[in-house]
Amino acid sequence: MNALLSSARNALLAGIVLALAAIAVGIAVERVDALGFTSFVLRAIHVVAAIIWVGMIWFVNFVQHPAVVAADDHGRATLFRLVVPHVATIFRHTSHLVLLSGALLLLPTGYLLSPWVFGAQFHMSMTKALLLWGAAAGAVAMWVFVHMIIWPNLQIVLGEKAANAEAKAAARAKVALYARANLLLAIPVTVLMVAAAHLF
Ligand code: HEM
Repeated sequence: MNALLSSARNALLAGIVLALAAIAVGIAVERVDALGFTSFVLRAIHVVAAIIWVGMIWFVNFVQHPAVVAADDHGRATLFRLVVPHVATIFRHTSHLVLLSGALLLLPTGYLLSPWVFGAQFHMSMTKALLLWGAAAGAVAMWVFVHMIIWPNLQIVLGEKAANAEAKAAARAKVALYARANLLLAIPVTVLMVAAAHLF
């Protein structure tokens, strides 16, 4: 047990093995068809990646940003060196995974190319489709904010791109503003996705 909990990496790997073992037992007991299994795998990846991305959005807004504002110059430099770049790496990469897994999940769930996947008889409720596509549009906006606005400006804040003090202050304000915009969008996007999957 000690070895499993000796590092975050080991604990993570142990959690993944535990999840896979439980699913393997479930599948051994009751058969799953290929499409259902594909949908499940994509959904599991999508949900875990979404938890991490939205968790980072939460952390940035309610923990990291207040700490950066409250810190003195030395503390801020430490945060910019030891914390902020790691947080940015995690949310940049998980945002790609959420988008990719979500886009692939459109196929086995019937939102896209359903006649091709399920045949002409398949019926998708209009309300369900509107909820999903509305949420997906919000999620794409969040992805654009991360990659077109937050990350380029964060690079200025972190000193990875040359800029004077005035440009750095403007970049910091922009990062904070769009981090809040992503917090605002994360709630309806998540709730609408869950509604599309479970409400009707
Ligand atoms: C911030 C971004 C996103 C978050 C937080 C998010 C979250 C979720 C959650 C929590 C579910 C419900 C899973 C379940 O309960 O079964 C879900 C389902 C789904 N998501 Fe996303 N998602 C995001 C982005 C996207 C994007 C960009 C797409 C498509 C391009 C997408 C496509 C889907 C699909 C197809 C489902 C399955 C719906 C169903 O089963 O009817 N998601 N998402």
